[in-house]
Amino acid sequence: MTHAIHYERVDDIAILKAQNPPVNALGIDVRLGLLAGIERAEAEGARAVLIYGDGRTFFAGADIREFGKPMKDPGLPDLCNRIESADLIVVSALHGTALGGGLEVALSSHYRIAVPSAKMGLPEVHLGILPGAGGTQRLPRVAGTEAALDMITSGRHFGAAEALEKGVIDRVQEGEPREIGLAYARELLDQGAPRRPVCDMPAPAAVDFDAVYEKTLAKGRGQLSPATAVRAVQAACEAASFLEGLRRERELFTELMESDQRQGLIHAFFSERAVSKLPELADVTPRDVASVGVIGGGTMGAGIATAALLAGVSVVLIERDASAAEAAGQRISGNLSGALKRGKISQDQFDTMTGDALELATEYGALEQVDLVIEAVFEDMDVKREVFKALDANCKPGAILASNTSYLDINEIAAATSRPRDVIGLHFFSPAHVMKLLEVVVADQTDPDVVATGFALGKRLRKISVRSGVCDGFIGNRIMNAYRKAADYMVLDGASPYQIDRVMTGFGFAMGPFAVGDLAGLDIGWAARKRRAPHRDPRERVVHFADMLCEGGDFGQKTGKGFYVYEAGKRGGTPNPDVEKYIAQDQADQGVSPREFSDAEILRRYMCAMVNEAAKVVGEGIARRPLDVDMVLLFGYGFPRYHGGPLKWADLQGLAGILEDIETYAKEDPYFWQPAPLLQTLVAEGRCFDDLNKAEK
Ligand code: CAA
Ligand code: NAI
Repeated sequence: MTHAIHYERVDDIAILKAQNPPVNALGIDVRLGLLAGIERAEAEGARAVLIYGDGRTFFAGADIREFGKPMKDPGLPDLCNRIESADLIVVSALHGTALGGGLEVALSSHYRIAVPSAKMGLPEVHLGILPGAGGTQRLPRVAGTEAALDMITSGRHFGAAEALEKGVIDRVQEGEPREIGLAYARELLDQGAPRRPVCDMPAPAAVDFDAVYEKTLAKGRGQLSPATAVRAVQAACEAASFLEGLRRERELFTELMESDQRQGLIHAFFSERAVSKLPELADVTPRDVASVGVIGGGTMGAGIATAALLAGVSVVLIERDASAAEAAGQRISGNLSGALKRGKISQDQFDTMTGDALELATEYGALEQVDLVIEAVFEDMDVKREVFKALDANCKPGAILASNTSYLDINEIAAATSRPRDVIGLHFFSPAHVMKLLEVVVADQTDPDVVATGFALGKRLRKISVRSGVCDGFIGNRIMNAYRKAADYMVLDGASPYQIDRVMTGFGFAMGPFAVGDLAGLDIGWAARKRRAPHRDPRERVVHFADMLCEGGDFGQKTGKGFYVYEAGKRGGTPNPDVEKYIAQDQADQGVSPREFSDAEILRRYMCAMVNEAAKVVGEGIARRPLDVDMVLLFGYGFPRYHGGPLKWADLQGLAGILEDIETYAKEDPYFWQPAPLLQTLVAEGRCFDDLNKAEK
């Protein structure tokens, strides 16, 4: 036995208890222990084996840290087959989260019982693989093809009640897993129940797998794992034998295991967890936050207030006058009605959130008791300064004063107060009650416990919080400006905005940059360009076609026209014919002769601009590690998760080739394409971005 599996006998039942905290992942010690446990139980003449997990859960899956390394024997597929073929009755008792390989172990058992709170699932597709230990062969046999396809391609978690209804488990019972498992095994023995291996069950019914495959591929926007899993389930139905199906599953599994998408998704899994763990905050206690103030109840303020209310934090919202306050209240209750309709909150909760938990006010005196204030007024330094002076005068000592500014200098905002150590940036993304990203922007004088409070609040609001330093646009908007510029330059040089949008959706983004501009409002970028114009470096290339659109009053979706024309009631838009004219005029004014761009060149330039700016952001210490940038792009900008993030993508592509292309582009536009010093250093040293992530761990 190994320490990871504890063996015990109760009469003729052997008990195998997994003890591999925190989640009983099926690492090599656990696999060895299970194998030894089954063999010992057989050798000792036990009549049944009970498998269950100690602590918070049954096995939550394979040990993801072992992926990409040579698999030590016994591998999980062999182990599952061995459990299934045991010559005694095997019972699994499930609690916590029986996921992936964990559920596959349960499916290899002959009988399954679970506590009512247990969650199950085969989430492998989210890691870029498919259930590779017989899950695609056994689940359809117990649950039917359609249910199995849904569970495997979505990777969703499902509860014990659904599992029982679909035949995934045999019984649901309150109690401790050990006790209910033992009682069930005893009952089975007393009844003389037979061994019941799933592999002996008849093959499930076939469906139109080609159609399901195509639909799944389209839904995943190019993600391969769910669609490939469809083919594995197909084998369960169509292969000549169970073993033949397992062989096919293994082939498809290996294909995915070797893919870049698997690496990207696993990078995302670990980075998502690492991003908010800051070593410097390990011993810092956050300040208590029972209530928050929000200044400004427009798009962002209302969204932030909604997010706080949904997390059970009460809100005092300040607007300029009574009618603006009322409009803000309506925005918030509109947002909350959405949550009510989707069943996320009850009517009682809705009533509290729009009643006692929310105070709408027009005087700063109402903020006397709040612990933290988030300002979301107009993006104008003079207005923000006035607001922060008022906050300084009215908020209690120790209250945290945060700004949701997109671009402005938090140090300058902090200087408007007498307490710059309490000032921080908390940059939410629109819609703030939906988008997962929160940039925690740390200014020069921000106290560590203020930073810790920003992260603690982010966690309560269920955000992915990323630390950022102060610069124009912080991590995300700064990088976005760079790749947006690359897109604009390509249009000026001859690519069409629609071609660029098509290429970027082909890469996996939900929308291309021009469609995103239409959604966000083209006036925002227009205002920013006008604001920056006086400070622009004379070497910077400037494009005007987007300004021409705005000058004509076309701001995108909100005016019905931008790069696309939007018709009421229709999803998406069609290309706006005026755009071509504006581009041609811009080219003529600037003496540019348009040329053709291949899809490959568009993708390369767009991504190189993103990677180069991201490398500058890391090199300057604005982001702590490459993975922080990756998580910002994933959770705030719709970067396809299966590429892992721009810097993971860059590692997988090879940094030397990326630098070489940037240097080539720099020959035509040396100002825009200045290579990031960090990228040059990494290439010179033969290292990659992930080496920097690892160095921090
Ligand atoms: N392997 C290795 N480490 C794992 C792990 C796994 N399968 N699952 C979780 N962990 C680690 C996490 O990285 C985290 O570590 P740190 O504390 O060092 O950051 C720790 O366990 C706790 O995890 P969470 O913070 O996520 O805890 P939670 O309570 O919020 O969630 C969970 C628990 C639902 C199990 C969640 O961790 C999860 O979804 N894990 C992944 C489950 C999964 O995808 N399983 C399938 C694996 S693939 C497989 O099994 C297929 C195969 O056949 C090869
Ligand atoms: P908005 O124009 O929708 O809302 C601003 C609100 O602030 C208005 O309701 C206005 O009445 C109110 N307001 C202005 N001055 C005030 C004052 N002195 N006291 C109280 N209320 C006042 O603007 P939006 O889009 O909500 O942006 C707010 C801030 O959030 C800006 O700094 C912006 O850069 C930032 N931001 C915006 C994002 C977006 O996608 N819209 C994303 C992330 C940040």
